Amino acid sequence: MFDLVCIGCGARYRSDAVIYTCSKCGHLLEVRYDLANINITRKEWLSRPISVWRYRELLPVSGEPVTLREGGTPLYHLKRIGEELGIKELYAKHEGMNPTGSFKDRGMTVGVSMALQLGMKSVACASTGNTSASLAAYGAKAGIPVIVLLPSGKVALGKVAQALMHGAKVISINGNFDRALEMVRDLCEKKGIYLLNSVNPYRLEGQKTIGFETIDQLNGEVPDRMVLPVGNAGNISAVYKGLLELTDLGFIDRVPMMTGIQAEGSQPVVKAIKQNLPEIIPEKSPETVATAIRIGAPVNAEKVLNTIRMSKGTADFVTDAEILAMQRELAQKEGIGVEPASAASVAGVKKMAEAGIIDLDERIVCVVTGHLLKDPETVINQCAPPIECDATLESLLAALQL
Ligand code: F0G
Repeated sequence: MFDLVCIGCGARYRSDAVIYTCSKCGHLLEVRYDLANINITRKEWLSRPISVWRYRELLPVSGEPVTLREGGTPLYHLKRIGEELGIKELYAKHEGMNPTGSFKDRGMTVGVSMALQLGMKSVACASTGNTSASLAAYGAKAGIPVIVLLPSGKVALGKVAQALMHGAKVISINGNFDRALEMVRDLCEKKGIYLLNSVNPYRLEGQKTIGFETIDQLNGEVPDRMVLPVGNAGNISAVYKGLLELTDLGFIDRVPMMTGIQAEGSQPVVKAIKQNLPEIIPEKSPETVATAIRIGAPVNAEKVLNTIRMSKGTADFVTDAEILAMQRELAQKEGIGVEPASAASVAGVKKMAEAGIIDLDERIVCVVTGHLLKDPETVINQCAPPIECDATLESLLAALQL
């Protein structure tokens, strides 16, 4: 049905192998289907409820999945923000509306299902927060133990709360995310624990359904551009891979320009694209208010450079101030509550539109990746506190200045 294929040397591995990178050359792997022998029509897909599992012919899981009903997230027209920028067709795909509040659930329903399919007994990840929240929930649903490694002091409150409440063993590492990822990779290799970071090719299979749903929600039309915040660079690469599969199946005739946005203090992918480097140069001390994407050595670097270049997309950075301003704009002009990293995608569009880098006639879909409530502290810090008021109508009118 599918093989795991090395994107560097083309080596093939069987679908029942527990492997994350090529044992011959060390490059990343991807899932490759025999598309010529897949019998599916768009009509058939459209007859099913919209969710990750609508697209099961292009997913690796053969049995009953471990599911919390992920996917089927809304695609909102950003009418006000779009009008202000002069972009008629600006959309946000709100991945914060997934079961644990981020797109990671799409990856985990597939990744944890594969862990069981492969006979693994426990799972682990390093995380800037959302991956750990999602893995904790899906591990609970599957009934298997979960270990998560978090960079100490740099994970938003809501995400830690989720990982703890869903019963994961939560370890706070005195180091950043990149170090935590190195450590969990070692741990998994030594102890036979299944690794569910985005180096795991199955997770990306679930995440590619963001692109499938977008096409369906636009009634089969292909956006000119898709814009995603980039951290470990798994998600943008996953969406591109999925859309290439749709072109191979003849369901769409082109792919969007894939555009990655990073924070100013954490932008190795942007630098590699702008300087046309063959590889990214890792950043030792990434820093940003958008802690979800506070990553200096993206594990999917090779995939993202290919994604952006092959799709004729681009990459740009936004400042923390631009991120927070867009978080407020989305909340107050569109009613859409997202966490800081998610606002980076729309902030990136604003920056590029104002600089004349993108054409205002484009149909643009921004992926907003996580919910507002993930990071309540950053929200509270930038809003005026509630107005204190005695429990009388007089005081209320005074407080409201009415
Ligand atoms: N947005 C949010 C809200 C995220 O949590 C992440 C990644 C990204 C964007 C970037 O996605 O890594 O695929 O490029 N969060 C990971 C985590 C690293 O551990 O939760 P990416």
